[in-house]
Amino acid sequence: MSSNVARMDLHDFAPEHDLLREKTILVTGAGAGIGAATALAYASLGATVILLGRTLAKLQHTYDAIVEAGYPEPLLMPFDLEKAEIETYHQMAAAIGQQFGALDGLVHCAAVLGQRTPLSNYNHEAWETVFKINVHGAFHLTKALLPVLHAAESPRVIFLSSSVGREGRAYWGAYAASKFAVEGFAQVLAQEVTQHPDFCVNVVNPGRTRTQMRATAYPGEDINTVPAPETHNGLMVYLMSKHCTGTNGLSFDAQ
Ligand SMILES: NC(=O)c1ccc[n+]([C@@H]2O[C@H](COP(=O)([O-])OP(=O)(O)OC[C@H]3O[C@@H](n4cnc5c(N)ncnc54)[C@H](OP(=O)(O)O)[C@@H]3O)[C@@H](O)[C@H]2O)c1
Repeated sequence: MSSNVARMDLHDFAPEHDLLREKTILVTGAGAGIGAATALAYASLGATVILLGRTLAKLQHTYDAIVEAGYPEPLLMPFDLEKAEIETYHQMAAAIGQQFGALDGLVHCAAVLGQRTPLSNYNHEAWETVFKINVHGAFHLTKALLPVLHAAESPRVIFLSSSVGREGRAYWGAYAASKFAVEGFAQVLAQEVTQHPDFCVNVVNPGRTRTQMRATAYPGEDINTVPAPETHNGLMVYLMSKHCTGTNGLSFDAQ
């Protein structure tokens, strides 16, 4: 096991009801699965959440859930991490800077699974698509947003990884390789932000979670036996909050 892998006992963690009040947090993949649950959890603690994802209708679903619950109104940001030009990332970052002055948090939930097949059979385009979304998109977005993150008092960045991003497994192809890249990228970033007094960059491996991605990866499984995305709210909130101060460059197992 890599030396930066950590677990946290959050049994006694009861977040204050306004823990994330006045925070602005961008969550990618916010239209479904872990991204949607995380965005809702942050909003419930007072954050203004920027909902980024590929499909507007899915983002609207998360938006409606937040507004109906009476939480701060989120922002919709339909954005395709595979197709967007680099310039568009920077325009988005500039717009966030103009509206909010700073960005307190960034959570990278968006990802695709790609093919479950031997490397000898892996389709070239499918391989590149996985890397464009899971790795290059996360890099372009983080790079563009670094100035507004640095402008925040306690910036937090969370990457979502996977157990196959720490130990390779047959037939997980580009997805596994992309999650190794994400783990490495997060470690590099964590070391580079230390000139900021309270900048935390961490990784979460959620483990098996009841989402579309899990259902696609394990079609024969009864998805109802798998933990819900909300299971990870405690860790996702902790790592986004002031309680995370001093925790930087670690990779957490959520389960
Ligand atoms: N579920 C698990 O068991 C599990 C286990 C280990 C790790 N993870 C990791 O946890 C994270 C969340 O996974 P999940 O299970 O919640 O997945 P999910 O339900 O499939 O959601 C993935 C999200 O990513 C978005 N996305 C995909 N391609 C995009 C693109 N080009 N541009 C913008 N957004 C894009 C999707 O939006 P659209 O639907 O609009 O395409 C969707 O909202 C991922 O990083 C995943 O690798 C999950």
